Amino acid sequence: MQAQLAIIGGTGVYDPAMLTGLREVVVKNRFGDVPLTLGCYGDKIVAFLARHGAGHAVPPHLVNYRANILALKQLGVRQIIATAAVGSLNQQMAPGNLVIIDQFLDFTKSRPVTFFDGGESGVIHTDLTFPYCPRLRQVLLAAARELGQQVHDGGVYVCTEGPRFETAAEVRLFQHLGGDLVGMTSVPEANLAREAEMCYASVAMVTNFAAGISPTLLTHKEVLAAMQANVANIRTLIRRVLELAAGDVECTCHQAIADFGGFNLLPGKEN
Ligand code: HPA
Repeated sequence: MQAQLAIIGGTGVYDPAMLTGLREVVVKNRFGDVPLTLGCYGDKIVAFLARHGAGHAVPPHLVNYRANILALKQLGVRQIIATAAVGSLNQQMAPGNLVIIDQFLDFTKSRPVTFFDGGESGVIHTDLTFPYCPRLRQVLLAAARELGQQVHDGGVYVCTEGPRFETAAEVRLFQHLGGDLVGMTSVPEANLAREAEMCYASVAMVTNFAAGISPTLLTHKEVLAAMQANVANIRTLIRRVLELAAGDVECTCHQAIADFGGFNLLPGKEN
């Protein structure tokens, strides 16, 4: 089993229908079993992973991020395109808009955050100045612009622990801190991908104005409905990105922890 590119589908993006020759597989590693779908887009082999599992059964704080990212690494994936539903803190980023996020603020509390917990796995400090692959971001941006989509080049994603939505005061705080968007999943997904030396970029779909900005109380139903109304844009974008993205590419992300000996899979063993 091998794949060059991966899509991590967030809320509302559960369907790998843009791929052909679909095959369901389960990749096992020391963190868990990861069900995903392999398929083709032209001559590229693409893995599709539903972040919240089939039927959105796994809440953001319990997603097995390490198992997911390691599974993609085991498949040989070198570039990951993620999708995320987000609330907006920024009047310019309205529901229905896409944002190719470029920074995050981490307000998570209880998640395993690294592959490197000391001991045998070592102590590794990864550079995250630019947490989303600047090169792959440009591919997403170029594709969205070419398609005439309402897209923003960059945005600061505030990652909360969830699963609850934010309080109005938290939203005001995040605005003061320079946040543009709020969601519950980009951390630790982005930083684990960097540790595993894979390119990772994320397209956020604004589904609502955040708590206290929105004139109404928030509901998950509203997020799903907004996502459904706009998911066609994400699908079109992903198709175009899969066409534009080189299957085989060299990037500094692939040497992210070279100083520490690189991210090594264990050949022939359980990873
Ligand atoms: N907050 C957190 N996560 C979200 C939101 C929100 O307002 N909308 C979609 N995902």
